[in-house]
Amino acid sequence: MRIVSGIQPTGNLHLGNYLGAIRNWVKMQDEVTASGGQCLYFLADLHAISMPHTPAELAANTREMVAALVACGIDPDRSILFNQAQVPQHAELQWLLNGTARMGWLNRMTQWKDKAGKNREGASVALFTYPVLQAADVLLYQATHVPVGEDQKQHLELARDIAQKFNNDFCPEDAPLFTLPDAFIPPEAARIMSLRDGSSKMSKSDPSDMSRINMTDSADTIMQKVKKAKTDPEPLPAEAAGLEGRAEARNLVAIYAVMAGTTVDAVLAEFGGEGFGKFKPALGELLVETLAPINARFLQLREDKAGLDAILRKGAEKARALAVPTLDKTYEALGLVRG
Ligand code: TYM
Repeated sequence: MRIVSGIQPTGNLHLGNYLGAIRNWVKMQDEVTASGGQCLYFLADLHAISMPHTPAELAANTREMVAALVACGIDPDRSILFNQAQVPQHAELQWLLNGTARMGWLNRMTQWKDKAGKNREGASVALFTYPVLQAADVLLYQATHVPVGEDQKQHLELARDIAQKFNNDFCPEDAPLFTLPDAFIPPEAARIMSLRDGSSKMSKSDPSDMSRINMTDSADTIMQKVKKAKTDPEPLPAEAAGLEGRAEARNLVAIYAVMAGTTVDAVLAEFGGEGFGKFKPALGELLVETLAPINARFLQLREDKAGLDAILRKGAEKARALAVPTLDKTYEALGLVRG
């Protein structure tokens, strides 16, 4: 098994990232590396320049995100932890795959439509070709599994389409070059929603900080955000079916279930019939209990800039070594002469 996944170093790591992706990165690291597989986790800094950004902030956020991932349990000795900018093979493979990806495929991407909005003419070319870089990220390493949240599913399907078409167009039938990667999406935490609006996902780009729990929030802030989270006046139902049409309530119960390592039904068996006045403090405490040690480690790690840079340098060196053979074969398959 080879596990590959990435995160953009824009802003803070939040609870949606953690429950939807990072927790699985850590679990897979523990399981897969013990049985001889490999895990590659990277900061998608090349993706981050597809939107307007401040260079100094990107550099600072990149180091902070390394500290956050290590604080969450990514071990740079067992997983390969790096940033794309130090592994130029990602950008090279993207260019080679641009010949295979179709405009129509990219035009259908919901993230492109959402982020470009009505101003497509003013969007960057990078935002449009973003999913091809994402395909390159995983195909470069022959990834078998890609742990992500639900919002990345469509991009992963595109990576499979690109791999399939490239294999069909340029490889002998019995020797396909690219492995088709499978998305690994945790059913119970596929889509953690905003605390202010149960119909939109928890996101770093939401202007309201009250909409998300940041992994760096203090205990007081977490308790405050949970207390102020939007809910409805009804008590909690006794069974999951009773959450139908109650998006905010469902989101909070789902977060509780995932954090406690139990099911929505088990949470409702305990809190069914209770109002949010009782449930919210319990959820807040559960969050603080899990996030406080992560936060403490993060605050310590972020001070050691040289140490964080060394982690990325070492990771990039290992990633480059794994990337080169597939990249070489891609050049060759396309008939590109390199001496
Ligand atoms: P990014 O940086 O937006 O998010 C990182 C990971 O967190 C997941 N996630 C969520 N999961 C559940 N609920 C939420 N509210 C939530 N918000 C975010 C995302 O699904 C993701 O798994 N394009 C990617 C980064 C990327 C990548 C890749 C991922 C670049 N190349 C190759 C996998 C493989 C992104 O912007 O994720």
